[in-house]
Amino acid sequence: MTLMHPGTARETLEISSVIGGELLAGGTTATSTNPAELEDVVANVRFGDAETFLRACTVAAEAQKRWAATPAPVRGQVIANMAELFRHNRRALAELVTREIGKPIAEALGEVQEVIDTSEFFLSEGRRLYGMTVPSEMSDKQLFTFRNPVGVAAIITAGNFPVAVPSWYIVPALLCGNAVVWKPADYSPACAHAMCEVMWHAGVPADVLNLVQVHGATASEGLELALDRGLVHKVGFTGSTEVGRRLGELCGRHLQTPCLELGGKNPLVVMPDANLELAVEGALFSGFGTGGQRCTSLGTAIVHESVHDEFLSKFVAAVEGAAIGDPTTDVLYGPLLDERFLRSFERDHLGLIRDHHSVHGSSDVGRITGSKPRAGFVGGDPERGIFCHPTIVSGVRVDDELANTETFGPLVGVAKFADWEEAMALANGHGYGLSSAIYTNDPRSAFRFRAQVSAGMVSVNNSTSGAEAHLPFGGNGKSGNGARQSGVWVLDQFTRWQSMNWDYAGKLQKAQMDVAEITADLDFRL
Ligand code: UN1
Repeated sequence: MTLMHPGTARETLEISSVIGGELLAGGTTATSTNPAELEDVVANVRFGDAETFLRACTVAAEAQKRWAATPAPVRGQVIANMAELFRHNRRALAELVTREIGKPIAEALGEVQEVIDTSEFFLSEGRRLYGMTVPSEMSDKQLFTFRNPVGVAAIITAGNFPVAVPSWYIVPALLCGNAVVWKPADYSPACAHAMCEVMWHAGVPADVLNLVQVHGATASEGLELALDRGLVHKVGFTGSTEVGRRLGELCGRHLQTPCLELGGKNPLVVMPDANLELAVEGALFSGFGTGGQRCTSLGTAIVHESVHDEFLSKFVAAVEGAAIGDPTTDVLYGPLLDERFLRSFERDHLGLIRDHHSVHGSSDVGRITGSKPRAGFVGGDPERGIFCHPTIVSGVRVDDELANTETFGPLVGVAKFADWEEAMALANGHGYGLSSAIYTNDPRSAFRFRAQVSAGMVSVNNSTSGAEAHLPFGGNGKSGNGARQSGVWVLDQFTRWQSMNWDYAGKLQKAQMDVAEITADLDFRL
């Protein structure tokens, strides 16, 4: 296991996969760069191959038996140590998040807080992890339920929440007695390494938490090999719908249900009675926080025709005036997470703008450069990083590709509706179902929306982003397979129920057949 000090200024880290505590040599080398300052190399990374993934699963499978035999309250103590260590390292880890993926420091601190909250939620779960005693239908017999660990959990995560979302999987998986093989995004390897360092120092055995730095396609290949050999028993994946679908198929062939947390096209409905200032504030944070690169980011603001123009002009003014730039300062958002997202944002997502749309929010669209400047840009030369103009597209209609495609980046659609059915068609028609919001002061609209929206998560007078760490998180339709993370709900992902009956009658008592009969007079009437 290596020791390093994340966040120490401008140091280039040397990292690779860590399996059973051993830092692997070999592999292909690449760099992880600071997207706000591309010349700043955060880490030199050695990426492994499918065999690396397989090896991690083999080591994890062996270690898991010992970990499962460790009493749950003792595993809980390790989680408690983790909570304490993450608290002490909060700023250093947040600074590394900002440096590696460009999330503004205030949000990065919030993200690490989410890891602490998750650890604090689960630290006592080791003393609960309740099963039940259940009455039997026969005397001298008792029934019980137990939560058993699943085995090895292979966790594959995105880099937009490089530490918080992984913690939603890894913390409960470990607490429940599973071993973990974690493949982080290949553009946030340093955050992942730092996070594992904290967990190992908290007492997680090195062979129980294995970090594999491999590219996405390699991970799928390695996962297939590991599933074929029976070395992986649960897959957790946060990322695109497309990849989630493929992993779902692969797991299905092995009779496994993965925990899939996929994309979103999250609606924010503004009713005629809404507090418009609040709605604008919510849309600004939902749509442009983390540069619109959260899976909970706002897709389309769906605004009643009676308040549409006022909402739009207030929203446009807020976006035009927003500070964008250096993520170490107080900005609405910093750079895109990684260069690969610039290509998809400019080509695929801005490419969905049509003639019937109107574009607002900045002096230009796409990358902020010397020739396409953004007034009030915070920091030096924007071309040193990958910064993009914020874009609001109004005039969005229900059949537009823009209304139905997840756009990862600072792009928000605005649509107008006249009646409720129209609003719900815009809110649900895309087939995603992750997060949603409604701005209203009428409880009938709030509850009607809750019942009819396809999303797994609903905000009333609050942003589409900003889930708290102990409520079920997850989506429906193209956003996931119904799995839920966080709080007590995630325990069902990382444990399997086992039922036990114990007959101490000293004779065979047959269920359903040897049950005492009570006679009753069912013809009785008063
Ligand atoms: C994600 O975008 O994958 O609710 C997770 C939020 C955060 C987590 C988002 N707490 O926006």
